[in-house]
Amino acid sequence: EAGALWGGRFASGPSPALAAISKSTHFDWVLAPYDIRGSKAHATALAAAGYLTADDLTGMHAGLDELAARVADGRAFPAEDDEDVHSALERLLIDIVGVQLGGKLRAGRSRNDQIATLVRMFLLDHAAVIRGMLLDYLDALEAQARVHIGAILPGRTHLQSAQPVLLAHQLAAHAWPIVRDLERLRDWSVRASASPYGGGALAGSSLGLDPRIVASELGLGDPLENSIDGTSARDVVAEFAYICTQIGIDLSRLSEEIILWNTKEFGFVTLHDGYSTGSSIMPQKKNPDIAELARGKSGRLIGNLTGLLATLKGLPLAYNRDLQEDKEPVFDSITQLEVLLPAFTGMVATMTFHTERMAELAPKGFSLATDVAEWLVKQGVIFRDAHEISGEMVRYCEERGIELHEPSDAELTEISEHLTPAVRDVLTIEGSVNSRVGAGGTARVRVTEQLDLLRRRIVEF
Ligand code: ARG
Repeated sequence: EAGALWGGRFASGPSPALAAISKSTHFDWVLAPYDIRGSKAHATALAAAGYLTADDLTGMHAGLDELAARVADGRAFPAEDDEDVHSALERLLIDIVGVQLGGKLRAGRSRNDQIATLVRMFLLDHAAVIRGMLLDYLDALEAQARVHIGAILPGRTHLQSAQPVLLAHQLAAHAWPIVRDLERLRDWSVRASASPYGGGALAGSSLGLDPRIVASELGLGDPLENSIDGTSARDVVAEFAYICTQIGIDLSRLSEEIILWNTKEFGFVTLHDGYSTGSSIMPQKKNPDIAELARGKSGRLIGNLTGLLATLKGLPLAYNRDLQEDKEPVFDSITQLEVLLPAFTGMVATMTFHTERMAELAPKGFSLATDVAEWLVKQGVIFRDAHEISGEMVRYCEERGIELHEPSDAELTEISEHLTPAVRDVLTIEGSVNSRVGAGGTARVRVTEQLDLLRRRIVEF
């Protein structure tokens, strides 16, 4: 069989059913450029150990460069009966350099240490792509926050009216989880950069090859300490899948808010036409599909992660073919994020906020009741009593269908002797927001500092 890397001990070739289940070229061919880089580095290590002459090495590197060019422009591709990317590439290399030279390359390595290394290289490259996309998203969030620095948002807990906050404070609250995701990617990349190459099938190599040569040529860190761990571990893949999932979940939380804000009932935002969709039957519709897809895809990302973890659970060391199942889920998570992030960023960057509507709703729902209680505390009332008094004031107003600033002076005293007319000073939205000057609070001075700090963190990544 043309591309087989094994077969010597077999009397018959693979059954069609085996070939079908075993085949992975439809998803692992994306690793071909990484496999070729690994092969070039491995050839260097073979030459350093005396298994390739200087001419062999020159010929091998030239052949691999030619192969890389053919892969890049589509002239080289997997054949129907190639089992995987490694088999296909060996066949294609032999087409170029002949079997005498091409047949030497596999010495001292296994597909097990190769695949473990290639997947790390692939993930590291996509981590860089995703990092760039996250930084663009943070730029968009920060820009919206700065443009609307004075705008008020009716802050919610339990989705119920809670306390007024700055819209910029809420938007920045969606930025910090992304900053942590960027930190996670950075921390993860240190672990992901360790190199399994040289571990062979599981036991290491007897040929005296130096795995540091391969690791450094591939731009990776130190070789892994244990060849069994190197060929079997996929925690690095699962951790990457987790980070992708967390990013999806973080986007899904802003998505949910945007979906609500975009309803007629809220009327807080209008999405740009370029980032909204229509209905095939209802002509009036303009839907927040990007936010919904972000919400939906976050479920898919969770599925990819849990599927991968389930594959790893209880799997004995060293390599088992189950490990081939690591790639499709994590590759899918990457594909989903890389298509989602630019759309999501565009939606956020072009979203129009209706700040007058938000300001109008901000005092509704007795959102300043906490300000009344805290004002009472400043007058020397203990908080338990202050909370009671403010609560009675809410009940008084609710029964009469009025807002907190509306009772007359006499009515205030009727509710409590502590409620002097001076309480009205805190019954404004701006007064409430700007009184929250404590660390991490929503006062404009704190939020401005926060945005400056956020900018410094963005620049740092
Ligand atoms: N295609 C396999 C994977 O993705 C790597 C090849 C290892 N195959 C083997 N029979 N040992 O994990």
